[in-house]
Amino acid sequence: MYEKQIEAAAEHFKALLARQLERNERIKSQGDFKDYGKLGKIVIGVCGGDGIGPVITKQSADVLAFLLKDEVAAGKIEFRTIDGLTIENRIAHMKAIPDDVLEELKKCDVILKGPTTTPQAGDGRPNIESANVAMRKALDLFANVRPVRIPEEGIDWTFFRENTEGAYAVGSDGVNVTDEVAFDFVVTTTEGSERIARLAYNYARANHKDRVSIIQKANVIKTTDGKFLNLCKEIGKEYPEITTDEWYIDITTAKLIDPKRRKDFKVFVLPNLYGDIITDEAAEFQGGVGTAGSANIGKKYAMFEAIHGSAPRMVEEGRAQYADPCSMLRASAMLLSHIGYVKESEALDKALDICMASGEYKITGRSDGCTCSEFGEYVKRTLKTLTAQ
Ligand code: IPM
Ligand code: MG
Repeated sequence: MYEKQIEAAAEHFKALLARQLERNERIKSQGDFKDYGKLGKIVIGVCGGDGIGPVITKQSADVLAFLLKDEVAAGKIEFRTIDGLTIENRIAHMKAIPDDVLEELKKCDVILKGPTTTPQAGDGRPNIESANVAMRKALDLFANVRPVRIPEEGIDWTFFRENTEGAYAVGSDGVNVTDEVAFDFVVTTTEGSERIARLAYNYARANHKDRVSIIQKANVIKTTDGKFLNLCKEIGKEYPEITTDEWYIDITTAKLIDPKRRKDFKVFVLPNLYGDIITDEAAEFQGGVGTAGSANIGKKYAMFEAIHGSAPRMVEEGRAQYADPCSMLRASAMLLSHIGYVKESEALDKALDICMASGEYKITGRSDGCTCSEFGEYVKRTLKTLTAQ
């Protein structure tokens, strides 16, 4: 019974295996991280995306250009606009990232990317992969770094979410074996786990964080989560000054809302899907996904984005100009420190702390609040006073 279906599903699985084994070889043969200090010029690609993306990306690029104006004048930094990552163009090409757009992205060193709309299975649009997920894979941006800080509550968390494997590796390539039985696949590799663990522990060491928590569900997802856990623990042994602990994802989500215990967490390392879920939860404590930035780091490229979506409804209702740029601006601060402009990065974070807390320019997403560009101008004025001090 079902011989034909089993045969077809097995063929599909074989093709996936071949591609993942190839990917594994590719990531193993990669060199070291790009040294931005050694580049004559750093190219920052500015890719607006769709929905509210173009509005908040333009504002963030404007703030970056303000902070980097001397470097731009000296030819050390170039901003390059990259169009074509809209949902319309992606559907027209039936590609998560059209080839010419990907080619342009690959000519940049770092990318500031606006949110992009992802069609959901069954919403009537073609089933193209998320542009985020595709970009993370195409540029091998294996680490998704997401900080959440609430100083007054003693919360200072940094999440190191594995960004290219787990449930996302072949997330668009599951198989309906029959009309009744569907399979998806989860992928964990040695190199993929070790490199994210190393980044998390290096960060902990460099920033004097004495604890790294490995989050997984290895009691149930034994093979892939088990491998991830064991490899992270092995890497942890190279950092004797740092305490490693391990938590299942379910209890972690609970502990994050326990005010007594959550302060103890510092650095998290976790597989892709758990990282996706828990970083939204974590950002909510800080004021919502609109307040948190996200860095997607690879050895050759890095991409910085908001952690929220493209809010197409705001555009439909004519409210795009009231979109909140804070998440993109936080991502811009991460971009600055990634390419070596640490002073500028700290100034931007500080200016954002001030502007978001002061309530002088409140963003509500509607006409009773300020516009995205009014907020951006306020950030620039605050930066001016900060740098004059
Ligand atoms: C994120 C987003 C993406 C993800 C979506 C848009 C595909 O939720 O960056 O966390 O799931 O990774
Ligand atoms: Mg998410």
